[in-house]
Amino acid sequence: MTTVIVTGGAGYIGSHAAKLLEKAGYNPVVYDDLSTGHEWAVKWGPLEIGSIGDSERLVGVMERYKPDAVFHFAAQCLVGESMQKPLSYYNKNVGETITLLQAMKQARCHKLIFSSSCATFGEPEVDLITEDTIQQPINPYGRSKLMIETILADAEKEFPLNSVILRYFNAAGGDPEAAIGEAHDPETHIIPIILQCALGTRDKVNIYGDDYLTPDGTCIRDYIHVTDLAEAHLLALKWLEAGKGSEHFNLGGGNGYSVYDVIEACRKITGHLIPTQICPRREGDPSKLIASVAKAKKSLCWSPKMSDISTIVADAWRWAQKSSA
Ligand code: UFG
Repeated sequence: MTTVIVTGGAGYIGSHAAKLLEKAGYNPVVYDDLSTGHEWAVKWGPLEIGSIGDSERLVGVMERYKPDAVFHFAAQCLVGESMQKPLSYYNKNVGETITLLQAMKQARCHKLIFSSSCATFGEPEVDLITEDTIQQPINPYGRSKLMIETILADAEKEFPLNSVILRYFNAAGGDPEAAIGEAHDPETHIIPIILQCALGTRDKVNIYGDDYLTPDGTCIRDYIHVTDLAEAHLLALKWLEAGKGSEHFNLGGGNGYSVYDVIEACRKITGHLIPTQICPRREGDPSKLIASVAKAKKSLCWSPKMSDISTIVADAWRWAQKSSA
């Protein structure tokens, strides 16, 4: 059975990918330091507790399991926090990814699926962001992910690495069977925050700015169902297994929703009045990010099947209710 190391596999997106890996007949091995991930989210494959910055531990795990590939999710991934703690972001996201690459080289593991981000694009003046859109990140988080994209291209000259870079737009929703879901502490993402209001554990949603140059003044984002996102990782792995070489893809649902659109969808699904308050803009937030997913559709034969906003919110709501019960 083909083994895949899933760094950050106890986290939100990594745990959904581990589930699909096992379902598809792979052997996922979760490697996570549990700094933000959860032991309860590791239901598919063994858990090896360790940091990607711990070279000795990583090499030991790779020698034991002899993985064919690595899915690399482990990272710090909050734009706002990256503005406050840039060094921590560069250390974790860049420095420790280099340690991971060195361990892969030593263990002769040559396939990598890397979690990059739409934050690498900054605020492009295009309606749809394609893979060729110029990358000009506007915050340390986005810069840290872009640095790794560059490092991956260079690393191929040092050892026979092949990588697929997946640039996520806004991952959202939860496992359709509600076995796992989003659980950050503190929670900063818009959908779980709105659902906390519906559950009664938060009194209102702060809307970070209604003076953007968008139709309703709030920021527009492209939300992608976490299961669609996880599925793209499997297809990216198959891409590398077929010997097709390094590539990069944007992954979103392909539609833009404003903060008000998302709140409205949550009101409909939950039946709760969600009180809101307009607040100042959040530092580092671009006004509009929507993916062109044409390349992933064509090359990976992938399509976002669950990324309409009502399916995303319905699955997130099922999980929110279950996890708070
Ligand atoms: N928002 C609010 N109120 C909140 C939380 C969020 O108005 O309480 C707004 C934000 O300003 C933004 C939108 O809702 O306009 C979405 O915010 P999220 O925090 O849910 O997501 P982000 O777009 O900030 O972040 C996501 C990913 C990051 C990625 C980033 C790229 O989580 O990993 O997109 O911009 F880097």
